[in-house]
Amino acid sequence: MNFLKRTIYCGDLRVSDIGKKVTVCGWVQRQRDLGQLIFIDLRDRTGIVQLSFNEKTSRDIFDKAFHIRAEFVLCASGTVVERSSKNMEIPTGEIEIDVDTLQILSESQTPPFEILNDSNVNEELRLKYRYLDLRRPDMQNKIILRHKIVKAARDYFDDNGFIEVETPILIKSTPEGARDYLVPSRVFPGEFFALPQSPQMYKQLTMLAGFDRYMQIAKCFRDEDLRADRQPEFTQIDLEMSFADENDVMAISEGFIKKIYKDVLNIDIPLPLQRMTYSEAMERFGSDKPDLRFGMELVDVTQELKNTQFRVFASAVNSPNGAVKAIVAKNASDKFTRKAIDKLTHWIKAYGAMGLAWTKINSDGSSSSSYEKFLSQDETAALRDRVAAQNNDIIFIVSSDNKQVVYDSLGALRCELAKQLNIIDKSKPSLLWITDFPLFEYSEEEDRYVSKHHPFTMPFEEDIDLLCSHPEKTRAIAYDMILNGNEIGGGSVRISQPDIQEKMFNALGFSQQEAYDKFGYLIDAFKFGAPPHAGLAFGLDRLIMIMLDCDSIRDVIAYPKVASSAELMSKAPSAVSQKQLDELGICIKSEK
Ligand code: AMO
Repeated sequence: MNFLKRTIYCGDLRVSDIGKKVTVCGWVQRQRDLGQLIFIDLRDRTGIVQLSFNEKTSRDIFDKAFHIRAEFVLCASGTVVERSSKNMEIPTGEIEIDVDTLQILSESQTPPFEILNDSNVNEELRLKYRYLDLRRPDMQNKIILRHKIVKAARDYFDDNGFIEVETPILIKSTPEGARDYLVPSRVFPGEFFALPQSPQMYKQLTMLAGFDRYMQIAKCFRDEDLRADRQPEFTQIDLEMSFADENDVMAISEGFIKKIYKDVLNIDIPLPLQRMTYSEAMERFGSDKPDLRFGMELVDVTQELKNTQFRVFASAVNSPNGAVKAIVAKNASDKFTRKAIDKLTHWIKAYGAMGLAWTKINSDGSSSSSYEKFLSQDETAALRDRVAAQNNDIIFIVSSDNKQVVYDSLGALRCELAKQLNIIDKSKPSLLWITDFPLFEYSEEEDRYVSKHHPFTMPFEEDIDLLCSHPEKTRAIAYDMILNGNEIGGGSVRISQPDIQEKMFNALGFSQQEAYDKFGYLIDAFKFGAPPHAGLAFGLDRLIMIMLDCDSIRDVIAYPKVASSAELMSKAPSAVSQKQLDELGICIKSEK
């Protein structure tokens, strides 16, 4: 097809272009037929410009313009002229193009929704017609911003001596962490590749190979339950550094965050970022990803209740792993009715809490409470004093024999209340490091300790002896970066000494043979000169989602998956032909 070549993007035209002959290309936003005049708003990725057809326009072009509908693809040439009625709401609103040549490059059916930022379309429809959804200016902006962040990452890490190395997508399955996506091998029937959950092992091998500083914009795949901030297929900005410790990795990583905030949002981030240990974060915020844009910290009230007769609190107070903690919602008493508090009580059970104790203090000092009638006056007074409750406040208390339940439920309640009370200060981002994580966490499912990060994470030097005797007490030289209450990146110092790695595998309950079967190539590699190394990976999608204050990670991914892991546009996953299955030696057990 012969078509006119664009000389300028629609959104770039200004008053200074008046008199110029230009050619623009794009999609029709809308066509307005005023009888003797036709206006067409033409849209490309930079914006919209008005094409005008009037009494000077030749008859056949005017007729063509008359038949044009939304989303037709056009090429138009003409002269830039000043508009008689200006639209100061858009950057090109003072001019229009007086069209003398018009080509319709493609027609369009009526689209299932209008291509507007605020077209209130359900997400399923948007995802089914993602190519139309992506035409919307705000989606285009997000994807373009994403491109800018990726470019800034490549520039920043290149400037700092990092080398981008592509690691394989078809790798050996090492199920540690989330479930692997498996890919059957045709050449080795019955055997499988896995898609990488992260390039972890390969980036460590790249350090052993002497590349010293590695980075990659890496696709990762995890077959896990989806949430608003997770996708089965996502992208990491992955890095690893040799002859480096946690401080080096943290300094490089926070420098990157500073750069993209400045470049993309023109926000200055003061460095170094605050650091908080995991245990402090849990005690104060009930979370290892605290949002510091508001207060409402957890207060331990065990001491005030140590002699209580109230069975619910007494059981937690007397249990070795129990806790009783409170948070105070300031000036909230008139915002939460009994019914609203009952709703929260039901809601919090999802976090394991058996219930939610509360006291609502009214503005005149009178109060209602779910538990104070079971406490002595002294206990009530001591408790109110301890949490510094005042008129108009609501005290919420969770007690449990398992303090993790108290952390999880109050940590979640704190965020929920902040949202409902609208007390989150969005004027500047909250960024911090969480450090000193436990090396292991107990998996009920596997009935053993599993790595909290991964099995190559270095324990604290002074905790190495605890690896086998008290795994739960061993701390990791690991760090997560938290942005507005979300984990946007995480990493660690790696084990580079084979004897410590062996102890680690022991603690994880792997026999030597099992460890060798899974990670043999890595164990062998470490026998040939391994530099001390450390690294980190940012979750790119999550980082952008939070930087741009989006509700869903899907908004910053061009072609995302939905909660069932399906892709609605192409309808993947899908059945494959018997021939394909036969070639792979695969027999399907049963139809769903
Ligand atoms: P980790 O598993 O903590 O570490 O992942 C790093 C970051 O990736 C993001 N992320 C996700 N984003 C979207 N969807 C998901 N399903 C998802 N899972 C994780 C998070 C997280 O902070 N190899 C190590 C890094 C290292 O030690 O260097 C790793 O993958 O933002």
